[in-house]
Amino acid sequence: MTKTAVLAGCGAMSKGWLKAVLEAPKLAGRVEVVGPVDLDPAVAQARADEFRLSGAAIGSDLDAMLAQTKPDLLFDVVVPVARHDVVATGLKHGCHVLSEKPMATSLAAGHDTVALARQVGRVHAVVQNRRFISGVRRIRQLLGERGAGAIDGAALRFLHRRAFRRLPRADGECAAARHGDPYAGCGAVHGGQDAAGGLLPRNQSARLWYGHGAAANAIFEFSDDVVFTYRGSWAAEGANTSWESARRFVGTKGSLLWDGEDSFEAKVVAGDSGFLRELTAIEVPEPADLAQTHGHASVIAEFLAAIAENRQPETAGSDNIKSLAMVFAAIESAGTRQRVTIAV
Ligand SMILES: NC(=O)c1ccc[n+]([C@@H]2O[C@H](COP(=O)([O-])OP(=O)(O)OC[C@H]3O[C@@H](n4cnc5c(N)ncnc54)[C@H](O)[C@@H]3O)[C@@H](O)[C@H]2O)c1
Repeated sequence: MTKTAVLAGCGAMSKGWLKAVLEAPKLAGRVEVVGPVDLDPAVAQARADEFRLSGAAIGSDLDAMLAQTKPDLLFDVVVPVARHDVVATGLKHGCHVLSEKPMATSLAAGHDTVALARQVGRVHAVVQNRRFISGVRRIRQLLGERGAGAIDGAALRFLHRRAFRRLPRADGECAAARHGDPYAGCGAVHGGQDAAGGLLPRNQSARLWYGHGAAANAIFEFSDDVVFTYRGSWAAEGANTSWESARRFVGTKGSLLWDGEDSFEAKVVAGDSGFLRELTAIEVPEPADLAQTHGHASVIAEFLAAIAENRQPETAGSDNIKSLAMVFAAIESAGTRQRVTIAV
């Protein structure tokens, strides 16, 4: 049965959402967008025109739009500072809500959102589109099969140069929150282990066009003793990584490297003598399910499947809050220069 959806926030990212909903074969005919809403109704109208949402109501007041259209779903693509109120409004109207990331601008707001979703018995999930790409699914497959043995170390590098406008301090902290997705990087390894502690030794204003927080180096320790290091910069001149970041996993049998694009290097120990053991290359398997490799379209499909099966989706807010906790712990650690215990 087709679900109806209101789309809140019709800026840049909403285009990707509408393309996924209207054009991805797996989503064809499954969602009807009945009401694009934006603080600026002209922006909502323009997006509706672009995607030929001819029967849709156009609005600037989310509460009124939800009362008018009574949709099954709310797609939340607003700016992070508006997220908490937008999600709460959707949940109070009985919608299942799928939010853009980050899920909140504070841990307290994240907890509040998770509690409200639980209270009203609706699904709230976050678009972690970078979990739903081929490379990450392939890594997950190999590590799940213990191809490199038990993992004890993981590292992620995201190094880019972006000349964004100068960010004020609060936005700078959000920019830090947007440094890739640490938990997604680790989620590929862990399947359920939570970060227990974090240290962020440096979070500096690396380049003049940023007010704050352009680079971050963090160390996270997980509850199963895996250590995950994260190095991110939006102001790295030269030698940039892929947008998906470069990753390395170290296991008891071998190591796996991914350049964030098409290149993998997976090697395991083949010999049992000598100071340096002989290594042999192993295949990195294809993703178990190709349908899980299409970014936003795959996240939306998983969200719909979870609703239909009365379960939590892979990127449920109740899980994503662990990512958020890592980010805020890192920001706190940068301020205090102390290790922070992460508790969600
Ligand atoms: N998943 C990804 O890869 C990815 C990439 C970039 C941005 N994002 C996230 O997507 C979200 C949107 O980013 P964007 O680049 O589209 O921003 P944007 O500024 O282009 O668009 C946001 C829109 O939301 C509207 N808005 C704000 N508050 C609202 C409210 N209360 N009700 C209705 N509309 C409201 C604004 O008027 C604006 O048009 C952000 O959370 C951002 O972090 C995700």
